[in-house]
Amino acid sequence: MSQILSGKNILCGVTGSIAAYKTCDWVRSLKRDGAEVNVVMTESAAKFVAPLTFSALTGNRTYCSMFDAQDEEKIPHINLARCHDVILIAPATAQTIARLAHGMADDLLSTIVLAGEAPIIVCPAMNSKMYLHAATQENIKKMKRYGYSVIEPECGSMACGEEGPGRLPDWERVRSELIRSLSEQELAGKTVVVTAGPTEEPIDPVRFIGNRSSGKMGYALAEAAKQRGAEVILISGPTQIAPPAGIECVKVRTAEEMYREVLGSVDVADIIVKAAAVSDFRPRECHARKVKKTEADLTVALDANRDILQKLGEIKKEKAKAPVLVGFAAESENILEYGRQKLEKKNLDFIVINDISAEDSGFAVDTNRVIILDRKGGEIQLPLLSKEETAHRIWDAVIGADL
Ligand code: CTP
Repeated sequence: MSQILSGKNILCGVTGSIAAYKTCDWVRSLKRDGAEVNVVMTESAAKFVAPLTFSALTGNRTYCSMFDAQDEEKIPHINLARCHDVILIAPATAQTIARLAHGMADDLLSTIVLAGEAPIIVCPAMNSKMYLHAATQENIKKMKRYGYSVIEPECGSMACGEEGPGRLPDWERVRSELIRSLSEQELAGKTVVVTAGPTEEPIDPVRFIGNRSSGKMGYALAEAAKQRGAEVILISGPTQIAPPAGIECVKVRTAEEMYREVLGSVDVADIIVKAAAVSDFRPRECHARKVKKTEADLTVALDANRDILQKLGEIKKEKAKAPVLVGFAAESENILEYGRQKLEKKNLDFIVINDISAEDSGFAVDTNRVIILDRKGGEIQLPLLSKEETAHRIWDAVIGADL
């Protein structure tokens, strides 16, 4: 269980669309992330999902009307508007969108939206024709002008049998926007380059030498930088992970390709994070056709790859204005000593040390336990956390350091 939303109060507004059943899962996910959740339903939403379902999932009563307050002292719309960090309206019907666009206050949810100051995220979900109608599109534009964040629906087959835009988006996309809306935008105006995943050095068209790396840590760092306002360029070796929305993703295969892309980004980058597990060697020869096992002499001659991070550290010595450098080190013994040696040798600002001897951190798992060292001798030992939380804590360290 992650604690990324611990201490956050989220108000979820559910309106009358069949997609309301999906919001039940979203509310569960928010609870798993440590958030406190309250749900407000419109009258028609309560025809699709029982308020009791949300009460059971949140552990709090579900609000359906302006006038069902149990404690008369507390005016529900004002009270609910005040005590939340973000308001997520999902699914948002054409009717609710029209209400919000026209500043109406004729039900509990629309009143809370007018009375509150928290950021508002709206996820439209409806029949495609209703969504594409000029009136709905105009209303969406109006909401955007008021500063509401509107997450465009996805295309696909709808419950009504039609195809087109109108489906609720993927939860990961909404969750990421929610975390962004709750994050300080400390990296606004900065360009961050993150490398992730392994590199593959081909022996022939089917075989290669590579490193173990899922890319999860690098992708989490890229996503977290975006959530904190950065313009992000992700330079990724081969991974199974879909590139996060809103991030420019440059796919590479070999260490040489990664070298060229990273070096090409030095002039635009304010910060470079090298989370990639770059292969230190490549086969001297890459065969154009598949080598038959009968003809292989079982010896692959290797050449050393150029060390990208080392090169960046050298550039940093020569240039007055060079990017902040964050390196990674995968160590299995004397981890602090080897980590600091790497930081100094490669002229880095930070090094994140992974203890790969532990089972719950490192390759392919969703958790990590790292130590962050900085060039001034600072040391931060993080506990076992999800890679997403680790990524945010690494950014806390980079943003907070006075180097
Ligand atoms: N790195 C790089 N280019 C390479 C090899 C590594 O940019 N050709 C970067 C990695 O992305 C990582 C850091 O260097 O940020 C640490 O690499 P690592 O392989 O742990 O260290 P090495 O210097 O290769 O030392 P060793 O293998 O002896 O531990």
